Amino acid sequence: MTAARPVPHLRTELPGPLAREVLARDLAVTSRSLPRAYPLVPQRGRGCVIEDVDGNLFLDFNAGIAVNSTGHAHPRVVEAVQRQSAELLHYSASDFYLPIYSRMCEALAETAPIDGPVRVFLTNSGAEAVEGALKLARYATGRPYVISFFGAFHGRSYGAVTLTASKAKYHKGFGPLLPGVLHAPYGTDETFEHIENVLFRYQVPADEVAAVFVEPVQGEGGYVVPPPGWLARLRELCDRHGILLVADEVQSGAGRTGRMWAVEHTGVRPDVLISAKGLASGLPLGAFMARAELMERWGAGAHGSTYGGSPVPCAAGLATLETIREEGLLANATRIGDHLLAGLGTLRARHPGLVTDVRGVGLMIGIEFDTAEHAEAVQRKAFERGLLVLECGESSIRMSPPLVVAEQEADTALRLFAEAVGEVADAG
Ligand SMILES: Cc1ncc(COP(=O)(O)O)c(C=O)c1O
Repeated sequence: MTAARPVPHLRTELPGPLAREVLARDLAVTSRSLPRAYPLVPQRGRGCVIEDVDGNLFLDFNAGIAVNSTGHAHPRVVEAVQRQSAELLHYSASDFYLPIYSRMCEALAETAPIDGPVRVFLTNSGAEAVEGALKLARYATGRPYVISFFGAFHGRSYGAVTLTASKAKYHKGFGPLLPGVLHAPYGTDETFEHIENVLFRYQVPADEVAAVFVEPVQGEGGYVVPPPGWLARLRELCDRHGILLVADEVQSGAGRTGRMWAVEHTGVRPDVLISAKGLASGLPLGAFMARAELMERWGAGAHGSTYGGSPVPCAAGLATLETIREEGLLANATRIGDHLLAGLGTLRARHPGLVTDVRGVGLMIGIEFDTAEHAEAVQRKAFERGLLVLECGESSIRMSPPLVVAEQEADTALRLFAEAVGEVADAG
């Protein structure tokens, strides 16, 4: 990457001439369903910096949407991927015994905030892990129904998209969805009122509910942090009715909130935990882990995956876990996250009508605006200044930088974000 230039550093208009060529080719051939946010055309990355095809340098506070946990091209991850690629690219771990597959499962199980022994299934993506957890929950309990939350995002495949209820457009045109999925309000007292006095009273008996799927911090739904004690009450409700608590940590996990798993902030122990983004610093690796006894109920052939836990993603996953541990990235996420939250709090105080809320844990930070249009305008103005952030929820912007982000980079991001907000405020 171009050395010794300040970051960000923009040397063309955006999109630049080479980016425009890519956009033209892309728009002619790719599926129209892809929800592109703005015309960023990345070519290479290092740490928290992305260089686009025109040589513009951006400060990346998206981390590939909470994926590049150790930053772009972390030397340990690159070295592990290169070494493993030369050794063995693929063999299906579903049908045979890959040493690196069980090593990755052991390493994950050691981190699991789950009571007792843990078993692990590796996948290619978050949605695939959600599907697996859903199948496991039904199989292990023999119960048909599952509950998830308004504002939830669990992925795009049929089961996962049925659990999702963050935006109606994710369901539009795809019905009928998976039967047996019910939704409740997220993060309020109403949650319990609705589940006990509406769902269990009018719709399904509690003893036919297999699982509650919950994001400990909602991601795509707007980076929403539930109030203290809420998850513990949910755990208690599940225990009372023999329902499994499944924590979807695809976005909140792998160190993003300053703990390995966001549930660790609450002391709640889920029965199943799902991970993906961030687990292998950019390579496709997901997992669902469960109390061992649950995965001992289903037998050979009940679930598998040709590529899930393939050797190269596992190598990247092991290097990622090692890097998070040995480079103190959880502490860094907490420290820089607090610094960002403080700076954004000041910004909110300066523009109370425009910036209506700032919230988050560690490096999972949401900034709420008064309208969706204003959130989108700020996202665009930030891009034009070389800062990459992304909308979420109805009118929020998320900041999810790599866990390696430095204080100086956080200060630059705060300055650019404040300029973008200021410009939108001035425009009225
Ligand atoms: C909480 C959560 N679960 C599941 C998913 C789906 O993951 P993937 O896009 O890897 O299928 C996402 C993706 O944003 C997510 O945020």
